[in-house]
Amino acid sequence: MSVALNLHQTTQDPHSSISNPHALSPALKSRLATPLKIGTVEVHSRVLQSPLSGVTDLVFRRLVRRYAPESMMYTEMVSAAELHHVHKLPKVMEVDPDERPISIQLFDRRPEFLAEAAKKAVDQGADTIDINMGCPVNKITKNGGGSSLLRDPDTAARIVETVSTAVSVPVTAKTRIGWSEDDINAVDFARRLEAAGAQMLTLHGRTRSQGYNGTADWDWIAKVKQALSIPVIANGDIFSVEAAIACLEQTQADGVMCSRGTLGYPFLVGEIDHFLKTGEYRQPPTVVERLRCAQEHLIMLAEYKGKSGIRQARKHMAWYAKGFDGAAELRDQLCRIESVEAGCGLLDDAITVISPERCHHSHRKTAIV
Ligand SMILES: Cc1cc2nc3c(=O)[nH]c(=O)nc-3n(C[C@H](O)[C@H](O)[C@H](O)COP(=O)(O)O)c2cc1C
Repeated sequence: MSVALNLHQTTQDPHSSISNPHALSPALKSRLATPLKIGTVEVHSRVLQSPLSGVTDLVFRRLVRRYAPESMMYTEMVSAAELHHVHKLPKVMEVDPDERPISIQLFDRRPEFLAEAAKKAVDQGADTIDINMGCPVNKITKNGGGSSLLRDPDTAARIVETVSTAVSVPVTAKTRIGWSEDDINAVDFARRLEAAGAQMLTLHGRTRSQGYNGTADWDWIAKVKQALSIPVIANGDIFSVEAAIACLEQTQADGVMCSRGTLGYPFLVGEIDHFLKTGEYRQPPTVVERLRCAQEHLIMLAEYKGKSGIRQARKHMAWYAKGFDGAAELRDQLCRIESVEAGCGLLDDAITVISPERCHHSHRKTAIV
C-alpha cells in the first residue's frame, strides 16, 4: 500500500489555540483541576472517549489520542461469553503496548464469565474493567446483558462484586437512566453498584426505550451525582465544548464522555480537554484537514485489518465528508470504495476542488447519526 501523505503539513496542530469568547466558571475550573481518580487509577483528563462498537478500535483510538493524550479511552464492547469459548483473543481486545489509560469493556449477565473475561482483559493491559449495562440492542438484552441489567439490579450488583474480587484493577460500569420513561431507576441502581464496589459510573442520560433518540436528560445525571461518592461521568449529547461545559455545570459530574460527536471527528475529545485545561479554544480542523485525517484513517484501517478494514472504513469516510459543496456525492462514492487507492483518490480530488475560502476552521456542533 503506497499512498503518500504528508501529515506534518496537513493535519491539525494539536497545540495551536485561538482566543476565548467563553470562560469557565471559577467553581468549575477548580473542581476539574485535580486528576480524575478511579479507585487507584489517576487520569489527567476529565474528558473520556466512549466505547463505540464498530468504531473505537485501536486505529480510531490512536487518532483520538493524538489530540487527547491523557484521556481515558474504551475498547468496543467485548462479549465475555465469546471469550469463554475461544483461545485466541478477538481483535476488539487489542491494545497498543503504550496505550494508557485504557479500559476494556465487557458484556454478559453471568458474573463468573465476566470475572474470567476480566482477568484476560487485565492481562491485555486494561487499566480498568468496564461493564456494559446500557446497550439497548435486542441481541444483547434478550440474553440478560447490557441495559436489561437495569431491570435486574441484584445480578448487576453481583457482577460488580464478583469481577472486583477477581481482578486488582478498578471495576466501573456504564449504564442508562432506566429501562423506559415510566421505569427510571438510575439513583437506586447506581447506589447498588457503588455499594457492590464499582469505582466509577458513567451515565448515559437516556432510557433504553429511547435508544439514541430524543435529548439526553442531564437532570438525572445530576441526581445520581448527588447520590454517589464515586466519580460520575456524564454521557449523552456532548457534541461541542459548549455542551461539555453546560453539562458539567448542570450535573456537577466529574467528567464528560463523548460518543457520536467523535464519529468522523476524532478531534472532539482533545478540543474539550484543551478548553477545560487552558480556558482557550483549540483551533478546529479545516475541511481539508478533516479529509486528510480521513485518508490517514483509511490507510491505517487497511493496514490493521486488510480488506475488512477497507469495508469498515467506508462508514468512517462518509462521516468525515461533511460540510462542503459536493459532500453528499463524495459520501455516496466513499461508501462503495474497494481499495485504499480509490478512497484516497476520491478524497484527493475533493481536496483539490475545495476552494481556499472553504478551508475555514469549524467546530462540530451536532450529531451525525
Ligand atoms: C455506533 C455506536 C456504537 C456504540 N457502542 C457502544 C459500546 O460498545 N458500549 C457502550 O457502552 N456504549 C456504546 N454506544 C453508546 C455510546 O457510548 C453512548 O453512550 C451514546 O451514544 C450516547 O452518547 P451521545 O449522545 O453523545 O452519542 C454506542 C453508540 C453508537 C452510536
